[in-house]
Amino acid sequence: MKKDFAILGIESTCDETSAALLVGGKTLVSNVIYSQIEEHKKYHGVVPELASRAHAAKIASVIEQALNGREIDCVAFARGPGLPGGLMVGRVAAQTLANFKKVPILGMNHLEGHLFACEFENGEVKNPLSFPLVALIVSGGHTELWYVKGYGQYKVLGRTRDDAAGEAFDKVAKLLGLAYPGGPQVSAQALKGRRDAVDFPRPLLPGTWDFSFSGIKTSVSYYLRDHCPVNVPDVCASFEQAVCETLVKKTMQAAQYYKVKHIAVGGGVAANSLLREMMSGEGGKRGLDVRFVPRGMSSDNAAMIALAAYRRLQQAGADALQKKWNININPNLKVKNWGK
Ligand code: KG4
Ligand code: ZN
Repeated sequence: MKKDFAILGIESTCDETSAALLVGGKTLVSNVIYSQIEEHKKYHGVVPELASRAHAAKIASVIEQALNGREIDCVAFARGPGLPGGLMVGRVAAQTLANFKKVPILGMNHLEGHLFACEFENGEVKNPLSFPLVALIVSGGHTELWYVKGYGQYKVLGRTRDDAAGEAFDKVAKLLGLAYPGGPQVSAQALKGRRDAVDFPRPLLPGTWDFSFSGIKTSVSYYLRDHCPVNVPDVCASFEQAVCETLVKKTMQAAQYYKVKHIAVGGGVAANSLLREMMSGEGGKRGLDVRFVPRGMSSDNAAMIALAAYRRLQQAGADALQKKWNININPNLKVKNWGK
């Protein structure tokens, strides 16, 4: 690959319309993000039809701003997992642009993007991830634990059986009358509360690496039904403690079982201060290197898609770059399990 190989990333899996230009796998020239939060706020969650319409309305101008007249060598878009309408918008935009510019196109896994977002530091990639590692991808739509041997060499150890951790934050926020997205709101309230005020369950599902967060959310709803008025900060702090303890415990167990020295935590919920503090603390005690996505890159963005594409090209070489423009979306896309 030439030194200044330029990839335009496109992200439209959920409620952020984003395009980014990454040059030489190192320099983030632009990362334009249009967040639809205001459109979804009054519904306390993402409304798929509204999301598709907003993506369709914004994608052209977002790409235009990210490109700003520059040339590109490749277009990479997130082909899943995500909401079908948004994915279609991203796909059509990527295909049209790649065709017009006569450059190849790559279809990427959004969750792989969340992992590689951990490599950014002030808009640059200075310090690539060290392998093997255990990755926790924790967002509004997903909670997954992976063993990662290198780029494309993933073993999904477990995932949530019901709600994602971020979804649980959003639903608890709704129960408490807090605004969407719930994570930052619950977290802010939690700072004023006692973490041991309410003993919400820690669903560890022994013998598996899976997660389950709907039980904690249901416990919160029963607690609110049975206690009136409630101390909102105490409920938030106790809920946050239960979720973070569960995430940290399982991640540490996986790191120990797979004998890795590195942990990477990506996705929207990785912005959570308690999670960062607990994961770093527990990792430190075990001599593990714990790496988080930088806060500004934790929620959905196209820079992470472009970087994941660069890593794929580094690994697969020119084979991955055939001029194949017709790449399907897959709303339920899973990372391919490598080995056993
Ligand atoms: O990765 P992301 O932007 O979108 C998905 O791919 O789902 O993650 C959004 C999720 C939301 O559920 C939001 O409430 C949660 O991340 N989140 C947080 C925090 N900031 C965002 N959850 C807990 N604490 C936070 N500080
Ligand atoms: Zn995401």
